[in-house]
Amino acid sequence: MPVRLHVNVDHIATLRNARGTPYPDPIYAAQICESAGADGITAHLREDRRHIRDSDVDRLKAIIQTPLNLEMAATGEMIEIAAKVKPAVITLVPERREERTTEGGLDVVGQRGAITEACAMAKERGIKTSLFIAADTHMVEAAHELGVDQIELHTGEYCHDPSTPELERLRKAAALAAKLDLQVAAGHGLTRHNTVAVSAIAQVEELNIGHAIISDAVLVGLSRAVRDYRAAIDRGVQMRG
Ligand code: PXP
Repeated sequence: MPVRLHVNVDHIATLRNARGTPYPDPIYAAQICESAGADGITAHLREDRRHIRDSDVDRLKAIIQTPLNLEMAATGEMIEIAAKVKPAVITLVPERREERTTEGGLDVVGQRGAITEACAMAKERGIKTSLFIAADTHMVEAAHELGVDQIELHTGEYCHDPSTPELERLRKAAALAAKLDLQVAAGHGLTRHNTVAVSAIAQVEELNIGHAIISDAVLVGLSRAVRDYRAAIDRGVQMRG
């Protein structure tokens, strides 16, 4: 089974916002990802708008050619935005203002009311639903009970400790989810190295990867960028009288 690669462009926006410039533009980055073979684009509109902004979501939806996966907390504000934007998929994630990135999976049981409300909105509009959960069998079962289309398994713990038990946990959760007819995605902390073992899990259909791809892109592109600036400076020098 081919595994879809969804690239998360949040950190292009992080870089843009650090200087308040219009560049780098996450929508242009998304188009580059698409032309390089990404199967979808993921963006997380956080409550504090620390990276992706509302206008980025609107532009992504209008411009990209592949499915837009909107990561969001199951709050009234985000449900309203998703209802208006109509991304291809919403992935519900837990969100705390003080965290550096999404820590842990959704509490599917504790947040049942809010998740149900978000999923009802999505179903009404033909938006696919995905829940970002820890690789625990009871979370998979709770997600199934809520009638969602997909689960995204949190690979963060495996990435911190790529020992056999963590990978086995992911395998077990993926197998159960597939048995329950849930589509299986995975993500968080994946790099070009640890991705291999996760994409080898038979039931995994989609990976969402952000930080490491954008980090690699900065380093891979650095020598080309320096060469371009060297050339621009040299052109200026040649123009001196
Ligand atoms: N999947 C979900 C649900 C996430 O919240 C994130 C982080 O925004 C990712 C995948 C991507 O994680 P990373 O940036 O570590 O690749």
